[in-house]
Order: sequence, then structure tokens, then C-alpha cells
Amino acid sequence: MPRINDHFLKLKAGYLFPEISRRVAAFAKQNPEAKIIRLGIGDVTEPLAPAVIAAMHKAVDDLAARETFRGYGPEQGYDFLREKVAQFDFQARGCDIHPDEVFISDGSKCDTANFLDILAPGTPASGGNTIAVLDPVYPVYVDTNVMIGNTGPATPAGEFDGLVYLPATAENNFTPDLPKQRVDIVYLCYPNNPTGSVATRDTLKKWVDYARANDTLILFDAAYEAFITDPDIPHSIYEIPGARDVAIEFRSFSKTAGFTGVRCGLTVVPKTLTGRAADGSRVELHKLWLRRQTTKFNGASYVVQRGAEAIYSPQGRDQVRQTIDFYMHNARLIHWTLTDLGLTVHGGENAPYVWLKTPDSSPGSWDFFDKLLREAHIVGTPGSGFGAAGEGYFRISAFNSRPNVQEAMHRLRHKLKL
Ligand code: MLT
Repeated sequence: MPRINDHFLKLKAGYLFPEISRRVAAFAKQNPEAKIIRLGIGDVTEPLAPAVIAAMHKAVDDLAARETFRGYGPEQGYDFLREKVAQFDFQARGCDIHPDEVFISDGSKCDTANFLDILAPGTPASGGNTIAVLDPVYPVYVDTNVMIGNTGPATPAGEFDGLVYLPATAENNFTPDLPKQRVDIVYLCYPNNPTGSVATRDTLKKWVDYARANDTLILFDAAYEAFITDPDIPHSIYEIPGARDVAIEFRSFSKTAGFTGVRCGLTVVPKTLTGRAADGSRVELHKLWLRRQTTKFNGASYVVQRGAEAIYSPQGRDQVRQTIDFYMHNARLIHWTLTDLGLTVHGGENAPYVWLKTPDSSPGSWDFFDKLLREAHIVGTPGSGFGAAGEGYFRISAFNSRPNVQEAMHRLRHKLKL
């Protein structure tokens, strides 16, 4: 009989979003007449930009002729896309990032998980890294560390032994302070999923200074950077001098360009970034990641990368911007309605997520989830699903059509008994 990876048994529940789908499916079965509006998982609803569609059609035609046909592509992505990313996403903002430091993939969730392959496994007590996460946190960062044995078991509060949790609370504006102890690795996500908070230049500089002083690796997830509306908020960690020696950055086309189903993301691994080998020598993380990708990954598809490239054309940029503005208008509608109803509301200004304090009448995150589904037939995401410090909070996503968001806001006003 094969031995299993016992670390999976430490995971207390199913992955958050399938768990929500399961509960919603059970509710829908019992209430077949209910018109459920989904503001739970951050999944896009609006069609791809016309420039992307045209580029993907053309790419399909390329595959139809011997002269332009493509087989295996470069595992790290085609140069045509890596060059655009480096130029528009980074160099245009003053970041010293080069095309060969950009690795194109089929999504940043996979990259955040896969990156653990090149870091020492194990708990801090067994020679692994000391890893810090914000709490609440995008569950993938925690669960993937649990799966490969980088943590101990879960505590009754749902935290995993061995991880350093940095609570993001209303008191610290959902941007936790630096850890009191030294950590080897820290996951940062700004604009933040789930709280919608952002990190100012000063905040990011504090992290970069900390990382440089403590030889810490920052895993910076910028999946929601396109939703930043405040011009003073940095879009990339590399806008902070010195960050290229201590940080990698994950980006996604999922929310920026509606690619949740198309699949494309990227990871920037600067060549100046190193980690320590068992013998004390310094090793370039770029080399290890390249080795990992060329062995375990065959690249994102040609058609998809041509589609992603199109968002950097003048028309593509305009079209994608309009869709992001559309979702941010939804976010404002949600924010206004909830505030008007007397709830305490955060986020939704530089991020497509609104983070609200659950009402006194239903303080538990899952209780409020059930109440919202029962009374208003609306699905959101319970804050406790993102970690212990998320208890008492609830996330509402702005990704949906305007009629659905308007209808959901109407139901909040008229059906929900607060
Ligand atoms: C979310 O709702 O938090 C995201 O859609 C999940 C993801 O991007 O994987």
C-alpha cells in the first residue's frame, strides 16, 4: 500500500473556495427557486478585451500554417511577452527589472506554491525556514507550506505551529508591523487579498530595509496592482530601492485582464537575489527557479501569451483599464451600500475586495455567510476562512455584472435583517 503525504492530514478543512461552493450547492438544492448572486470567490465576469480576442484568434491562425506553427515554447515564456512585461509593468515605473528576470507561467497561484520547491523544506525546528504570513491571509500561502511539511499541526485557533502570524487588524489599518523576531521568508500581498488594504511607499520601504538587514526573502504578491487608484501607492515592490536583492514578485493576468479561465501569470526573480546553501555559500534563486521550471513546466500556451501581450498595446491598455474601472465602480457601490446600512467597511478603494466587520446580530464569519445566503441569496467569503484574525469579518468581491451587483445591493437593503 502506498504511503501518503501525512502533512495533508494537518489541513483542517477543504480549500476555502470549494468549501463555499459545496455549501452553496447544498443551499441551491434545497431552495431551487433562489436566484443566488455570487460575490464570493474573486472570479471575473466580463468578457476579454477585444484586443486580446483578436490577438488570440491571430495566434490560432499562426498554428494553422507550417511557417508560423509553434511547438514547445520556452519554459520561461516567449520573449515578446517578457519584454513587454519588463518595459510596461516595471521599467515604466522606474524598476530595474530585465526581460530575462521575468518568468511567464499559467498563473500566480501555482507559482506561489511551486516556488517552495527551491527553498529548504521542513519546520524551523528541523532546519527549515522561519516563515511569516499576514493574518488574514490568502490561504494558498499557508496551505502549500502545510502540504510540504513546513509547519507543525494546527492549533485549536486554526493557526499552524511553526508559522509566524502577523495580525492585520483595524487598529493597524490591516497593514501589520514588522515581525518582532527575525524571519527567513515573509509573504506580502498588496493590494491585499482579502482585506483590500494597500502598502504605502514607507511601509514597503520598512519591509525592504528589514529584509536587507535580516537576510529575509520577501515573496511579494502583486496580483491586484492594477486596481490601485491612489497615485502615491507603489504597484511593485521594486519601486523601493534595494528590493531587487531581497524580493521576488508574483503577478497575474487573471484579475488584470480577465484571464481566470485563460490562465497566465508571471514571477519576477531578479538575478541579484540569493539564498543560502547548506554549506553556507550563496546561490542565485534565479538559477534554481529556471532549473525548476525547465524540468517541471513546459510553458504557458502560445495563444495565451499572444493574448497577454495584447494588453500592452495602446488599445489593449485602454480596454483593460475600462474593465478594471468597471469592477472598481462595483466596489464603490458595495462600499457605499454597506456603509449606508451602518456597517463598518474597509477596502474597496484600491482593491476589488470590500472587507466588512460582521454585524453584532451575527458576529461569526460563517454565521454571517449562512445568514446572507439564507436571507438575501448572496454568497460572500467568511473572513475566518482566511485565518484566525479574519474571524468577525467578511469579504465581498466586486467581480460581477452591474445588474447583479445592483440587485445584490437592493437585497442587502431590503432582505437582510441586520
Ligand atoms: C480569491 O477570491 O481570493 C481569488 O480569486 C482566489 C485566487 O485568485 O486564487
